Amino acid sequence: MTGSHGHRDGRCEDCLPVEADATRRPALAGDDIAAHTVQLTKVNGSGGTRVVALDSVDVQFQQGSFTVEMGPSGSGKSTLMHCVAGLDSPTSGRIVIGDTEIGPLKDKQLTQLGRDRIGFVFQAFNAVPTLTAEENILLPPAIAGRKHDPDW
Ligand SMILES: Nc1ncnc2c1ncn2[C@@H]1O[C@H](COP(=O)(O)OP(=O)(O)O)[C@@H](O)[C@H]1O
Ligand SMILES: [Mg+2]
Repeated sequence: MTGSHGHRDGRCEDCLPVEADATRRPALAGDDIAAHTVQLTKVNGSGGTRVVALDSVDVQFQQGSFTVEMGPSGSGKSTLMHCVAGLDSPTSGRIVIGDTEIGPLKDKQLTQLGRDRIGFVFQAFNAVPTLTAEENILLPPAIAGRKHDPDW
């Protein structure tokens, strides 16, 4: 990246791309951070088909706010969301939901965390086709043995 004031190597503070700046700053979990990643890396394939989908991503998602992820097709948007939601596993780096680091969790613990604390709307809906929309929404709490608010 070339800065507007003539640097060519991208090392000037003012020229650093946003991503590079974010990776220099350790992610700090605070009360208002719903989830964050530290040096999150995901490599797909190997040899000639090796693709670095996520390259040391440090990102924080604030509670009570919307985060928009933008980038061209194939830039790693879905991979980031799947990893942060615990649906895909990273090659390296850390994912923390609230104050729970999900890397060391066993399958069952990860399933429970996903059920209790993560809602995910898939690009391809992944709904159970034989159920109605309402039944699809109520399926996870039903599996967890929970009653839902009937007013809902
Ligand atoms: N299961 C997979 N196996 C191999 N490569 C994959 C897989 N999923 C994604 N990729 C590659 O990783 C990169 C990022 O993909 P993706 O996260 O789907 O991008 P986006 O959602 O931004 O379009 C792309 O180059 C894609 O081809
Ligand atoms: Mg995608």
